[in-house]
Amino acid sequence: QISEAEVALFSVPSYACQRRTTRDNHNSNLTDALSLLAENAELNNEDGRGVAFRRAAALMKALPTQVISMSQLRGLPCLGEHSLRVIKDVLENGVSSEVESTKQSKRYKALKILTGIFGVGAKTADRWIREGIYNLEQLRDSGQTLNRAQKSGLEHYDDLNEPVTKAEADAIGEIVQKAVDSVLTGSQVALTGGFRRGKLTGHDVDFLITHPEEGKEVGLMPKVVAWLESQGFLLYQKTTRNSYLESKDGPARPASNMDRFERCFSIFKLTKGKEQESTQPEEQNDLKTKDVLRPHMQVDTDQQLCELSKNYQMEAASHKIWRAVRVDLVVSPISQFAFAVLGWTGSKLFERELRRWAGHEKNMSLSSHALFDNTQNKYLRATSEEEIFAYLGLEYIPPSERNA
Ligand code: GTP
Ligand code: MN
Ligand code: MN
Repeated sequence: QISEAEVALFSVPSYACQRRTTRDNHNSNLTDALSLLAENAELNNEDGRGVAFRRAAALMKALPTQVISMSQLRGLPCLGEHSLRVIKDVLENGVSSEVESTKQSKRYKALKILTGIFGVGAKTADRWIREGIYNLEQLRDSGQTLNRAQKSGLEHYDDLNEPVTKAEADAIGEIVQKAVDSVLTGSQVALTGGFRRGKLTGHDVDFLITHPEEGKEVGLMPKVVAWLESQGFLLYQKTTRNSYLESKDGPARPASNMDRFERCFSIFKLTKGKEQESTQPEEQNDLKTKDVLRPHMQVDTDQQLCELSKNYQMEAASHKIWRAVRVDLVVSPISQFAFAVLGWTGSKLFERELRRWAGHEKNMSLSSHALFDNTQNKYLRATSEEEIFAYLGLEYIPPSERNA
């Protein structure tokens, strides 16, 4: 029996951007439960509840040791009544009854399956569920009209739901670097997203592209995409002008050159196995067009042919020489690069908390493009993430400690 006096009391600042959150997690039983409820809330378009659970999960993730008693949580921020109830349930019973019943629910299962399709969000999934569609088979049978993204998403469902490894991310990084080198010399590629934070796997790979000479990056994205397409690296791509004026999280006043941000949602065709080797470009092009070799055989009857064809298909599936990987590309002018890197490194909650900190504590507006000081009524220029943290009056948190 541990007495209350022996139990560590934690002191944790309330904004996630004031904390160092590494990949170590001493309370995964609690964060798993809270994250699932956050996800469920988001899937049901209950954003307020979602954020509350995300904040609670992030707080538990930042604790230096395992929590064993509710008394250790006294005085901690970010823990609402509902989150505390869930934590208590897990500490006392090993599991949260709310989490267990959510996991079992037909609706949650269907939302997970359907939003697992690239291009399908919570709203579309909800509409389909109301029409009686709970899984991929029912979706295929329903004759629902799918857009281009969703068709691609359905086609590559298994690949896209398979975590991307760091080795695969690096292999794609080399391809993207080659693409930008081919279309505009001097262009730079930065790995952002979860892999920059040191995560070992991800749901996609995120890159930010820029050029050291301001303005040179204009029109770069279509060229990069055209090169990738010509080399057969893209299974799907949609390039959108990042309409900064319309975005919810942009600062009150956009700077003059902000409509230049372009984003490309894509699905790469990545040759398997190549990520372990140092890539020889010619070899890679060669491999991606190579087909599975068919065994040379004598066929006498239809039945034999049928058998052979079945074996061949199974063989081809197990020897599939490529896989589909989601890749996000963003082009930023060099003047906004530091803000873009900061904004695209995440985690999502860390970003949200940075913006909340800027607005509520500093009367500033932070976005992936700029930092605006509402008191001085001016933009604050920065060429590094360190400078941005300094403007915000925050201790610098390196990417590996932004895993909130
Ligand atoms: P996994 O990909 O799941 O491993 O995690 P991740 O942290 O890389 O997530 P994701 O790829 O979804 O996003 C990476 C970063 O980009 C996060 O910080 C997001 O906040 C940011 N991000 C994603 N979409 C947008 C967007 O439309 N606009 C802006 N400004 N940022 C975005
Ligand atoms: Mn990512
Ligand atoms: Mn992404």
